[in-house]
Amino acid sequence: MDKEHVDFLVIGGGVAGLRAAIELAPHGSVLVVTKDIPTESSTGYAQGGIAVAMSDEDEVGIHYEDTLKAGDGLCREDAVRILVEEGPERIQELISWGAEFDKEGSKLAFTLEAAHSRKRILHAHGDATGKELERVLIGKVRSYPSVKRYAFAIAVELIVSDGRCFGAYVLKNRRVVPILAKATVLATGGGGQIFSITTNPQVATADGMAMAFRAGAVLEDMEFVQFHPTSLYLPAAPHFLLSEAMRGEGGILRNINREPFMKRYHPQAELAPRDVVSRAIISEMVKTKSDHVFLDLTHLGSDFVRRRFPRIYSTCLQYDVDITKDLIPVCPAAHYMMGGVKTDTNGATNIKGLYAAGETACTGIHGANRLASNSLLEGLVFGKRAGSSALKNPVEAPEPELQMPTVAHSIPAHDEIRGRLRRLMWEKVGIIRCESSLTTAKQRLSDWAYILDKTLLTRRELELKNMLQVATIITEAALKRKESVGAHYRSDYPQKGKDWQKHISWRKKI
Ligand code: FAD
Ligand code: SIN
Repeated sequence: MDKEHVDFLVIGGGVAGLRAAIELAPHGSVLVVTKDIPTESSTGYAQGGIAVAMSDEDEVGIHYEDTLKAGDGLCREDAVRILVEEGPERIQELISWGAEFDKEGSKLAFTLEAAHSRKRILHAHGDATGKELERVLIGKVRSYPSVKRYAFAIAVELIVSDGRCFGAYVLKNRRVVPILAKATVLATGGGGQIFSITTNPQVATADGMAMAFRAGAVLEDMEFVQFHPTSLYLPAAPHFLLSEAMRGEGGILRNINREPFMKRYHPQAELAPRDVVSRAIISEMVKTKSDHVFLDLTHLGSDFVRRRFPRIYSTCLQYDVDITKDLIPVCPAAHYMMGGVKTDTNGATNIKGLYAAGETACTGIHGANRLASNSLLEGLVFGKRAGSSALKNPVEAPEPELQMPTVAHSIPAHDEIRGRLRRLMWEKVGIIRCESSLTTAKQRLSDWAYILDKTLLTRRELELKNMLQVATIITEAALKRKESVGAHYRSDYPQKGKDWQKHISWRKKI
């Protein structure tokens, strides 16, 4: 049987996976696998920027407080402390590797986003921060001869035996290859594709969470899905993100009667926490019997808007919307998963040799609602910590007997099921949930449960299995939490209950 051995396997090539690989590279051979081209990740699409307390008017203590407040009482404070304290060092390091953030004169320029009490968002090329991070991190990774990268290599299952992880089965060139490693870092990003309306790229199908769950890892906080208030709403266009930084710079939300409405919902108006803004938009859409509202930048000055948001400007223009002159039709979209594979502050999961970092992990820093632009920083800080802890704790046990997933089944009409699942999740497990919508979702998802028992060896089918696995857990978690906290809003339980300060965990009986 063909198999490969490396010292360290990193699954995923976004900010978290790349930062982990850089930490591991001086200490052994590293393989980074990505299921698409190396640059296809949420990281590459990140717009608004990266939150870090580095401006003259800011302090790490204030960043800490803002993160806890946005998390609505459910953040893990030790993890938040690490994020805000180590953040500035990670950014300085990135700058020393060549990252070019936008400046005002000779100083770094910081912008404002929702629920931040200071201007603290660093950005690059206006609205292409993710691309800049990716450029610098990929450049750094490529400078290490010890790092190999495989594109279009899809992790299918983790290799786990006796509570230890030995690597993963990876599908490459239509063949499954076991890749054996002393430590494995899962950095597969989130699962926005589970919902029919999402800002996330096609690769975001929650593969890491699903694989880890099947292998016996603990998932936590899965009911908390963040819906971004403003994605482009045009029948012929994808739900392209319209960065929160546009509201940070003064953009105004208007309903279809052109009336501004956010002040009626929250004293921070357009810059209220994301969950509040998303629900306010839904409420205006219902009131005005419309499927969108508008984002208005027309008062900000055409030169400024084009300079500050060049990528958004040119993308919208392709759809005949000139954001300097036209109101932009927008609606909320699934954007980020606060929950994921439970880790400690060093990225360690409950399975020896398995680490997780970035959006696929749940360190607890985001609590019930992530503070805007904290996730790129999370990828840097906890990607490094996961790498550093992985190299200190190699799995030295004898290699287990391999059980190659070779006999493949196929799922008739899998693309049709994928579409139905995504619409179901948007309609019944979306921004506003209740017992009856969640129960309907749970029943319909269970009709497809047979898919979870199959060995699937094409990318689309595997993704469907992973999406179904995680959709089922999100739905069950949302049913279980009978109260509204952060991004989880239950119309039948609109308040926090008595016992709200808990975390709900999920672990498969193996
Ligand atoms: P990703 O960057 O998503 O990378 C995942 C990697 O895993 C990819 O390489 C993918 O190919 C690989 N992968 C997945 N499954 C498999 C598999 N089975 N086998 C092999 N490889 C696999 N956050 C901010 O802080 N600031 C922002 O301005 C911001 N803007 C955003 C804009 C958009 C449009 C989106 C979608 C998100 C934005 N976010 C932002 C969120 C942030 O970008 C993500 O949370 C973060 O980039 C996640 O990084 P990651 O490394 O965990 O995963
Ligand atoms: C945005 O630019 O609005 C996205 C920021 C984020 O998701 O943190």
